[in-house]
Amino acid sequence: MVDGRAQVPETGRPLRVALLGLGTVGRAVAERLIDAEWRAAVTARGANPPELVAVGVREPGRKRALTLHASIRQTADLDELVADPGIDVVVELIGGLEPAAQLVQRAFEAGKHVVTANKKLLASFGPTLETAARAAGVVLRFEAAVAGGIPVLAPLVLDLAGNRISGVRGIVNGTTNFILTAMARDGRTYADVLSEAQGRGYAEADPSADVEGFDAADKLAILSRLAFGAWPEVGQLRRAGPDTEGDATAGITAIQPLELRYAAELGLAIKLVGDASLWGDAVMASVMPVAVRASSPIGSTDGVTNVVEITAAPVGVVTFQGPGAGGGATSSAVLADLLALARGAGSTWGQLPEPTRTLRIIDPLEVPRAWFLVAADAIGDGVAYRVQDLALASAGDAVVIQPMGLGELRHRLEDRGIRANLYPLLPES
Ligand code: HSE
Repeated sequence: MVDGRAQVPETGRPLRVALLGLGTVGRAVAERLIDAEWRAAVTARGANPPELVAVGVREPGRKRALTLHASIRQTADLDELVADPGIDVVVELIGGLEPAAQLVQRAFEAGKHVVTANKKLLASFGPTLETAARAAGVVLRFEAAVAGGIPVLAPLVLDLAGNRISGVRGIVNGTTNFILTAMARDGRTYADVLSEAQGRGYAEADPSADVEGFDAADKLAILSRLAFGAWPEVGQLRRAGPDTEGDATAGITAIQPLELRYAAELGLAIKLVGDASLWGDAVMASVMPVAVRASSPIGSTDGVTNVVEITAAPVGVVTFQGPGAGGGATSSAVLADLLALARGAGSTWGQLPEPTRTLRIIDPLEVPRAWFLVAADAIGDGVAYRVQDLALASAGDAVVIQPMGLGELRHRLEDRGIRANLYPLLPES
């Protein structure tokens, strides 16, 4: 193995795959790998379909919806599996930090390539894993870790290689977008929609990772590494929007149904948006609820769909949209990574050099912005009138406030006795 490029088996034999985890995504990947029609279709497109030779699960004997042929080894000994000489590539789909991190490290040490959908693992240990994969001369691919079925990491690194990337932003968590859409459109409650998202296999094992913005922050960290050349400290990314008193609760947890309704009356939508843009030698980045024009690509992206806008020169703005979560969507990206490996492609970071520093993060609330708010005690007491002098537009008690710093806005609202969640207005791209 040279420069992290996979060795395609010289005999033309298929890559031998060990799959760790048979959850929503693992099952969807296994179903395709063992499906004769899928294999024929892939072969017809000139690719060499990989062979599923082993599955690592906690309870190998358990009855499952998926029936695997007896020739596919099932084992609970994942340590042994990732070092098995009969395996070329480990597909890590167990999620979470441990034991995933140790298993991936062991796989590298044993000379195995790794494909993973584990955004938390990459955002937390990206620099270590990248160094380890490069040192071992193996490939690490992770297209499935960001925006589910949308091919966005490979285009960012490869197809936009002739550009200087200045910004990456969008909706990168399907669960929260599914919840916000149903709350705004159908007036459903947060808890009711969350349980539907869980039932559909969109949500993380611990859904607070979705609704508190951790998952989207992990994805923004990965996008930032590939766009701006270094890994950020994911914990530095703001996940809570502000309110008049401090920070609101994180992610989408502070958003009120009334705010979604009033935003719509002003032609706006409230979305959980990850946004990272170059700011001198740093990157201004956050994942928080913002108000965005409802008819814009981000504002009109509903349900489990994700959207990623990349701003780059000379190309301009390139927008990617598609299914962001679920077994089908995510397995598509995992399978594509396996086929890329089979044809000798390198790691997801492509030709990018190994980072030598950590990305410096700036909080976007440090600069003046335009704002959207619905006064908490608004109904019927003329609050909209009291903020008229600040407002660019208003509908009932919802207002769009002219650009100003957060400190000044809070001060002016406090003077008027107004309490509210404050939503930065996302500028048009
Ligand atoms: N829980 C994640 C989401 C799964 O809802 O986007 C896909 O990464």
